[in-house]
Amino acid sequence: MGVSYFKRFRMELDVRGKRFVPLFVPSGYRLLPWEPELLPEHALAKFYSFRHEIDADIFSCLAELEGCQRLMQEISLKDGFLPEATWLAAYSHNGEVEYCGTIQGIRVTNKYGAIQNVGITPAHRGRGVGTALIAAALAGFQQVGLTHAYLEVTVQNDSAVRLYKRLGFRRTKTLFKAVELAYS
Ligand SMILES: CC(C)(COP(=O)(O)OP(=O)(O)OC[C@H]1O[C@@H](n2cnc3c(N)ncnc32)[C@H](O)[C@@H]1OP(=O)(O)O)[C@@H](O)C(=O)NCCC(=O)NCCS
Repeated sequence: MGVSYFKRFRMELDVRGKRFVPLFVPSGYRLLPWEPELLPEHALAKFYSFRHEIDADIFSCLAELEGCQRLMQEISLKDGFLPEATWLAAYSHNGEVEYCGTIQGIRVTNKYGAIQNVGITPAHRGRGVGTALIAAALAGFQQVGLTHAYLEVTVQNDSAVRLYKRLGFRRTKTLFKAVELAYS
């Protein structure tokens, strides 16, 4: 059994005085506010967003649908869980609805909100849906009086780091996540 270390950044944004509404959502997409009944759809969107990505090597629960369901359950039961910062992206086409993105927010202190996993399924990336979900979560933090947002991102995840920087997030810490490997 070996151990591998993944470099991650903590990135932060001061949300005071910024305007994240009205949200820009590309045509065909809708952002649905949190409802407990939507937990399975959040889990499904999370699974299809993360299963082939680097974060699924680091957090093994992201590689399996059951793990994503468990994770969504845990997040939604946390003390600081914020329905206002938790959104599901839906795409409607020819009368069919596809759940293609998810984000969750947690109140960590009276100042800080943490963005949990933001994920967009591969077919729906590069259209602004990830940006729209993050903006919706940040507006949710503002709505409940939080002044700062943070998240953690794996450094190798270029597109995510770029997206956060574009939204104004700045790196505040470098962390190393140890992951036990079955074979090394
Ligand atoms: C990171 C992630 C959430 C981004 O979601 P997304 O929906 O693709 O994000 P956006 O479409 O808002 O932005 C992505 C790119 O598309 C571009 N874009 C947005 N709208 C666009 C449009 N209408 N036309 C062309 N390009 C567009 C953005 O400028 C951005 O470009 P960049 O990569 O050069 O910065 C997504 O790639 C993902 O789910 N990855 C796997 C899971 C993951 O790693 N999540 C992050 C965990 S920390």
